[in-house]
Amino acid sequence: MILKVNDKNHEVEADPATPLLWVIREQCGLTGTKFGCGIGQCGACTVQMDGVAVRSCLTPLQAAVDKEITTIEGIASGTALHALQQAWIEEQVPQCGYCQSGQIMSAHALLANNASPTDDDIDQAMSGNICRCGTYSRIKKGIKKAAAELALTSTTKIENNG
Ligand code: FES
Ligand code: FES
Repeated sequence: MILKVNDKNHEVEADPATPLLWVIREQCGLTGTKFGCGIGQCGACTVQMDGVAVRSCLTPLQAAVDKEITTIEGIASGTALHALQQAWIEEQVPQCGYCQSGQIMSAHALLANNASPTDDDIDQAMSGNICRCGTYSRIKKGIKKAAAELALTSTTKIENNG
């Protein structure tokens, strides 16, 4: 079976019902996506399927074939971190860090659909991502910082092209 992850095709062999999480980690070697609860309750395993945040612990491999899968390893452009990753560093968002790749993947999907989210939008989009260290207020700050940075970058691009 071919699985397309972060723009790269991976030949994988597993029962079609295998959770995508294990295929990504064990066969694609992408271990940034974490196992937390295994029952869709914590968000640690969040990846994107065609740009939509999904829980990879509950997504069977067969549902991911022919889709574009994006993991935390796929959002930077070469060596340039994504604005969210940069904001996470600047705001020192993580504590233990375990939940954070899932947090960022949910935030990334949010910003793709809503360039300027309100507090409520953020609360709603991030409600499925649990952080046992309680970094929620820094996560919110990080998302807002990244949204502002992305808005600035797109304004600069428009000005340079205009
Ligand atoms: S490990 Fe998937 S939601 Fe917790
Ligand atoms: S930073 Fe520790 S669980 Fe979120």
